[in-house]
Amino acid sequence: MKQGRTPVIAGNWKMHKDRDEALQFIYKVNEEVPSNDLVETVICASDVLLRCLVKRQGDNLKIGAQNMHFEEKGAFTGETSPRVLENTGVTYVIIGHSERREMFAETDESVNKKVHAALKFELTPILCVGESLDIREAGTTNEWVKRQVVAALYNISHEEIEKIIIAYEPIWAIGTGRTATPEQAEETIKAIRDVVRELYNDSIAENIRILYGGSVNPGNIESLLAKENIDGALVGGASLDPASYLQLVDAALKKQKNNRC
Ligand code: 13P
Repeated sequence: MKQGRTPVIAGNWKMHKDRDEALQFIYKVNEEVPSNDLVETVICASDVLLRCLVKRQGDNLKIGAQNMHFEEKGAFTGETSPRVLENTGVTYVIIGHSERREMFAETDESVNKKVHAALKFELTPILCVGESLDIREAGTTNEWVKRQVVAALYNISHEEIEKIIIAYEPIWAIGTGRTATPEQAEETIKAIRDVVRELYNDSIAENIRILYGGSVNPGNIESLLAKENIDGALVGGASLDPASYLQLVDAALKKQKNNRC
């Protein structure tokens, strides 16, 4: 993690937690998270929980969605409009998570449309990219991820790119307990930063936040954040428990304070 980039610890609850569980979490965590100019803390929950979480969010913890449609309105049964997310007070949205790409036929083209729509409605996109185990073993991870980034950022302007957070999540590391080593994560995240440099410029590449996701937990977060290019984490399982989520936030806060000394 490099000085100047505010770290992000984003929880992705996926299809976990009912209303009571979500409320218990937010009441415990709200007062404990640091000011978001030190660490940006975000919880991405199921759509039906979003309003109740937004109503109870404190000054620092932000609420995000896990997906949305790219159209503002229309005949899209079961989908959620970015405009409605904005109205609801949601400020972040995960786009292109591998579970959506693999199980719900999300394509590079729809991911790109969603990134545009999120920006239009002032939602911060957390754009996910990542390779399967086959690609990792074939040694073509960086090419794969580079192609996903280029496709997702098609026609995104220099002003808009600064608002995007990218999350590198190797599919083989998600929910498996098999984290990428800090070196593997750093190498691919640096390659992503270099793609942003090629597409935009040095200053944008140095400012954009790029997270790692895939079996992050309180035991491995520090070694990941020790790497220069890793600016935080997108966390599934370890974000469900308030104490574990707060440990991740604490690790980012410590790193941030050390960087500023
Ligand atoms: P886990 O942290 O449970 O591996 O999930 C990662 C993830 O998919 C976050 O979006």
